[in-house]
Amino acid sequence: MSNKAKDPIGIFDSGIGGLTVAHAVKKLLPQESLIYFGDTAHLPYGDKSTAAIQSYAVKICDVLLQQHCKLILIACNSASAAAFELVREYVGSKAKVMSVIEPVVDFVRENFAESCVGLIGTKQTVQSNVFLKKIDHLNENIDFRSLATPLLVPMIEEGFFKNEVSQQIVDTYLGHEALKDIKALILGCTHYPLIKKEIDTYYHGKVQIIDSSEITAKALRAYLEFNNLLNSTGEAKDRFMVSDFTPSFEHSTALFFGKEIQLEKYPLWE
Ligand code: DGL
Repeated sequence: MSNKAKDPIGIFDSGIGGLTVAHAVKKLLPQESLIYFGDTAHLPYGDKSTAAIQSYAVKICDVLLQQHCKLILIACNSASAAAFELVREYVGSKAKVMSVIEPVVDFVRENFAESCVGLIGTKQTVQSNVFLKKIDHLNENIDFRSLATPLLVPMIEEGFFKNEVSQQIVDTYLGHEALKDIKALILGCTHYPLIKKEIDTYYHGKVQIIDSSEITAKALRAYLEFNNLLNSTGEAKDRFMVSDFTPSFEHSTALFFGKEIQLEKYPLWE
């Protein structure tokens, strides 16, 4: 085990939705310490400009580096689309940086060459065309289609899922011409694992649902293993920080992390 192995993994998101990714990581790697940062003061990122998201991301990385994170995982798809390259340059050799996009693109290359693959996500994620560019670059003859589905985040945050209303909204989006004939659908947003059931109901199991939280957690484990960075001390300790605190954020952690957790307020700009 290398010296850095016992250092925490930093995970950040625009808010608490990224806890779906933190949850997948914790499930697969319970021995790792996590430092989660949710930028609740600036959410949603999905409608923000690239420049704004980049400035928040750099500030958050400063916080995570102060905590000696061995790796920084950008759990937010919108931030991954807008700021991954910049964050990687900014962090340099101080920590490895991963996003939720590259592991999914690798998965698509391995499993869906010569097929038609769809993506749903925020406006930022879809309009950035980052997935399209990376998938085109694979040269695997993948017919890539995407649709921004901005109503889904507020719907889920308001607790509308696993019911008739959410099913109707999901049906309307997935019935859009843009997603016709797809063989697989990338859930390109932290919140969407919560509506997997509605999506599966729409497709009757005929379209494979690509859950980026699980795929990213597996890629993270493989990276740590390969680099001798898995923590085997058995002393995991997690912290969950947010740039703005409300009891409602804390209450919603149960939706995304499977249990309610305590949030610490850590303002990005004082
Ligand atoms: N975390 C964002 C994402 O995965 C969704 C919420 C937001 O727009 O901030 O794109």
